[in-house]
Amino acid sequence: MEKIKMEELVAYCKNYGFIFQGSEIYGGLANTWDYGPLGSRLKNNLKDAWRKRFVQERSNSYELDPAILMHPKVWEASGHIASFSDPLIDCKECKARHRVDNLINEFDKKINADKMSQKEQLDFIKNHKIPCPKCGKFNYTNIRDFNLLFETHRGVTEDSKLKIYLRPENAQGEYVNFLNVLRSMRCKLPFGLAQIGTVFRNEITPGNFVFRTIEFEQMEYQTFCKKGEDEKLYDYFKEYGKKFYTDLGIPQEKLTFHDHDKLAHYAKAACDIYYEFPWGPDEINGTHNRTDFDLRNHQEFSGVSHEYLDPDTNEKFIPYIVESTYGVGRTILALLHNGYKKEKLENGEERELLSIHPFLAPYKLAVLPLVKKVHAEKANSIYIDLSKHFMTIYDESGSIGKRYRRNDAIGTPFAITIDDETINNNTITIRDRDSMQQEVIKLEELVDYINERIKF
Ligand code: GAP
Repeated sequence: MEKIKMEELVAYCKNYGFIFQGSEIYGGLANTWDYGPLGSRLKNNLKDAWRKRFVQERSNSYELDPAILMHPKVWEASGHIASFSDPLIDCKECKARHRVDNLINEFDKKINADKMSQKEQLDFIKNHKIPCPKCGKFNYTNIRDFNLLFETHRGVTEDSKLKIYLRPENAQGEYVNFLNVLRSMRCKLPFGLAQIGTVFRNEITPGNFVFRTIEFEQMEYQTFCKKGEDEKLYDYFKEYGKKFYTDLGIPQEKLTFHDHDKLAHYAKAACDIYYEFPWGPDEINGTHNRTDFDLRNHQEFSGVSHEYLDPDTNEKFIPYIVESTYGVGRTILALLHNGYKKEKLENGEERELLSIHPFLAPYKLAVLPLVKKVHAEKANSIYIDLSKHFMTIYDESGSIGKRYRRNDAIGTPFAITIDDETINNNTITIRDRDSMQQEVIKLEELVDYINERIKF
């Protein structure tokens, strides 16, 4: 099986309606992407899988949906206004802007620029005369910190305008609601809050398709706990994250843990899961031990006590937080990259295949009349019935082989053929996407058959 290149994956996503360039008819807005009919289904199914593992199957676990726009003090308290930045260097010749760690790492993959101070980074660039990747010249500004927050303003008159920010992470929505959830749900520590939502970052060097964008979705899970329980939970969520990905069908050997050399301003410890992308292993998830940093700061900036009274010991303390975070776009990219294959068949033909977990598949089932003129009416009525149970696709155009191929390419795990046997005996032939094996089953057994096989 050949390795899939990034350009092929981008073209595949466009051709089959997974992901399109944002604002394409206007020439596109760089690094924005629109999820198409199949991409939206895939994304929703991924979110449902995550909800299942993080909310439904965990006790003391709740989902929140906080507003994107938050009081600007939130971002002061969280440290994002002061510290959420990447080191930036400008090329004075062509005006291209570069993230310093990327510039160094692309020049020498063995160097870990994250471990260097800004002075060491600048010395390295000067000593090695690293050329500008855009114009090839060597004439840079000094390094400075570039804040990634997107700013906007709220207010109707010029002088009443309040500077507000598009949230750069979901987590703060969960933290500012800690007390609300504690009270309304009568929680006891440890408990967890889950949130799926869009965030914005003014990245210096977005790219690699949906891997690094300026607007993206995160699935974030915060566990509030007592100090002392944090380290065990941290190790637990690292493994829980890996298991989530292997359960989704990503092989263990494509996933690796990477401890952070440079910690975010809020973290005591951080470890990412990297997936083996075409350009090398890169981050899809993170586990962070955020200590009591966030709740302590919200207490200080809001003046509202964030202490928890332990009903068993009568102790009062500010809880610690262990965070488990997943990029939606990056996970989708890993799933598509892992699942998309071009397979040589025994008869010499090639088939495109999206081999993803049936739970994630945009359509669960394709209904195909063997001969349109003879079987379409029966097939249509079966399709209408099955649509009440699953996302079902009806396809009557072209040869049966072509229709199988089209559904293999979009990851539909099952296809049923409606033929004379269906009309006379109420049986259908069901074909499995990956093995291409077919079996005959009774029509009334079909819903249970599929339900059993699409479970996550
Ligand atoms: N609340 C913690 C937090 O936001 P992060 O490591 O900055 O941590 C979490 O981001 C996840 O969001 C990452 O593991 C990654 O999957 C995703 N992510 C981060 N920046 C991204 C970007 N520019 N484009 C797409 N996904 C991104």
